[in-house]
Amino acid sequence: MQQDRLRTALVGCGAFANAALLPAMRMADIDIVAVCDPDAARAEATMRAAGAGACYADMSAMLAAETVDAVVMAVGPTIYPTLAVQAFAHGVHVFVEKPPAITLAEGEAMALAARKAGRQLIVGFMKRFATGYRMAKDISDTADFGAVQMVSARITSGVWTPAWSKTLTPFSFVLDHSVHFLDLMRFFGGPVDWVSAVKTQASDERFGFAVLLGYASGAAGLLEISNYESRGVPNERVQITGSKGASVTVENVTRVTYTRDAEPMVPGRAFSPERERLIWEPNMTNISGENASLVHMGYVGEMRNLAAGLAAGSAVTPSIEDGIAALALAHAVVESDGRRINLQNAGEFQHVAVH
Ligand SMILES: NC(=O)c1ccc[n+]([C@@H]2O[C@H](COP(=O)([O-])OP(=O)(O)OC[C@H]3O[C@@H](n4cnc5c(N)ncnc54)[C@H](O)[C@@H]3O)[C@@H](O)[C@H]2O)c1
Repeated sequence: MQQDRLRTALVGCGAFANAALLPAMRMADIDIVAVCDPDAARAEATMRAAGAGACYADMSAMLAAETVDAVVMAVGPTIYPTLAVQAFAHGVHVFVEKPPAITLAEGEAMALAARKAGRQLIVGFMKRFATGYRMAKDISDTADFGAVQMVSARITSGVWTPAWSKTLTPFSFVLDHSVHFLDLMRFFGGPVDWVSAVKTQASDERFGFAVLLGYASGAAGLLEISNYESRGVPNERVQITGSKGASVTVENVTRVTYTRDAEPMVPGRAFSPERERLIWEPNMTNISGENASLVHMGYVGEMRNLAAGLAAGSAVTPSIEDGIAALALAHAVVESDGRRINLQNAGEFQHVAVH
């Protein structure tokens, strides 16, 4: 193994680690030197699939025996707070899958442990690196786009019980699935001052929320999250509107529509290369590693960002502060019941700094 590659250990050898993280880390030129999982069969199979040199049942035993730069955890939010603190005691950086914890207090304790150890704690909000969202962010950051005024998103997940929660409730749904989109709303619109949400529930296992967000910038956000529609259909749409007549829409992470301030229709209207609507889609028949769905979904970009940021010694985002902000939004959405919850000043959310 080359010295300049990020040396990692994988914690948790379950379904997600094998389906997404292993191939994404391979494409990001990250070495997995060891893996651990109390389930010996999973640990051994994943060790072989990852080309790792050893497998363990226990993370602390692994970190005592191996020399790594970072651990990548794919276990679940009920255990990340404990495991992250243990990992920092071994002097490594930590990447945790989303959600980083269940409560804000746990998230803050993790952030404090990272600061005390002088190590980074990165959270797996890979949608920031998805092709369409990455392009939309680039567009919305341009001077031509102006200031972001509206962020509007609609996402459905199908009925799905998170592996870590064992039960499907409105809270586990929001924390497991929608937390990605709560982070995306912040990614595109910046810090959120307040949230108001209305729940709709058709049965014990089918529900959704209509969410209104007030950004610190004065922009407004609209978010529809539910599990009503099947995950067998394209189910993500995000639109960002700027202050100068432009918007950018991302559908299914692979169709980006950049709508510019075009002329209304008049007799003899010409085609304007500068002002007409532009559409980007990948050519899926082009043989290129960059057309892998793990690239378009963001997992590869997330791992490349991790490797490059840690190698450069720069602050890697999304950080635990982003994770805490998304957790605060998740709790606020579930508890709102139509009330406006001020994330900076109100009650139980008073201590949460939403950056
Ligand atoms: N970003 C995404 O799109 C995405 C998608 C799915 C899951 N996830 C996240 O990935 C994580 C794992 O989810 P999953 O579906 O693979 O769950 P899973 O139950 O399939 O896998 C979890 C694994 O962790 C192991 N484990 C439990 N305690 C451990 C410990 N102390 N040390 C090491 N391993 C331990 C379990 O034995 C199991 O093999 C969760 O945080 C989940 O939210 C993220």
